[in-house]
Amino acid sequence: MQIGNDIAHAAELIRDGELVAFPTETVYGLGADAFNPEAVAKIFQLKERPAFDPLIVHVSNLDQVKELSKHQDDRISLLADRFWPGPLTIVVEKSEKVSDIVTSGLNTVGIRMPDHTLALQLISEARTPIAAPSANKFGRISPTKAWHVANQLKEVPYILDGGQTSVGIESSVIRLHEDGFVMLRPGAISSAQISEIIPESKISEDDQKLHSPGLIKSHYSPQKPLYIGEIDLDEADLSNAGLIAWGKPGYANRFKKVEYLSPEKRPEEAAIHLFSALHNMEASDVDFIVADPVPEEGIGIAVMDRLRKAAYRHRKTNQ
Ligand code: TXA
Ligand code: MG
Repeated sequence: MQIGNDIAHAAELIRDGELVAFPTETVYGLGADAFNPEAVAKIFQLKERPAFDPLIVHVSNLDQVKELSKHQDDRISLLADRFWPGPLTIVVEKSEKVSDIVTSGLNTVGIRMPDHTLALQLISEARTPIAAPSANKFGRISPTKAWHVANQLKEVPYILDGGQTSVGIESSVIRLHEDGFVMLRPGAISSAQISEIIPESKISEDDQKLHSPGLIKSHYSPQKPLYIGEIDLDEADLSNAGLIAWGKPGYANRFKKVEYLSPEKRPEEAAIHLFSALHNMEASDVDFIVADPVPEEGIGIAVMDRLRKAAYRHRKTNQ
């Protein structure tokens, strides 16, 4: 494995059917040529990802969107005008050119144009859209720094290093239906922002679930217990515990290790630091982790979504 910033080399690897990890504004992706099924198969193998979980295809221009989607849907250009490049994935009907391995056999494909120079240059120089999930082992913590990738995916041939990502959590994923959009995964771009461009669909929640495989309850998990605000701080022995703190709480000094998500309580800053805080706790010698809940407003909704999934295996009550 090599870490560096040689885009020409990385693009050549993609063209040769190899994998490259690269930064986006959300998290690092593990990329392969989207039109090379054998290369895409390597992603599933390296990530130990189940075949039912479809991949997002990353583009650097709108011609590639036409190549990937079945219909010319004007709503894609409207959304692209406003939100691309940026942390929004749009799920639309796929063209014949997109193989089943990318979409887990679905007739739809998720597409996004990432807002990161290295990612856009890589796609342009590779001259092909790049299929990429987050560059972590399946179910584990998503990477927002190159060393997070290197730690989990030692076999990846090349990691393009772009430093800390600027948004910090994965893109919002929406599906387009005839009557409007459905939010499949919350992210930095909210339903309210998208509603300014196209209406929210009226389809039922059960139908929505059918359209979002891969959105499982347990995900992003550190390899030690994580509890969200469920510990009785007066009773517990915290001398071997880590705290992922919201603001600057007075009880922080009772913990062995503290990661501050945002001392000034800014949700965007909390999103940037969330996965890094989890990686640091995982790599440290604390026995268990306590996370303060974050207010569920704006991107705070997505932060709590990720925290709940990270804590799911260890929950004491249903939350
Ligand atoms: O920000 C991001 O989206 C990052 C960066 C690398 O772009 N990527 C990412 O990919 O988070 P991944 O594979 O970890 O999560 C993609 C999720 C899938 O688990 C699935 O839930 C949803 O996107 N998805 C992808 N294609 C879909 C489709 N055709 N229909 C429904 N959901 C889809
Ligand atoms: Mg992921």
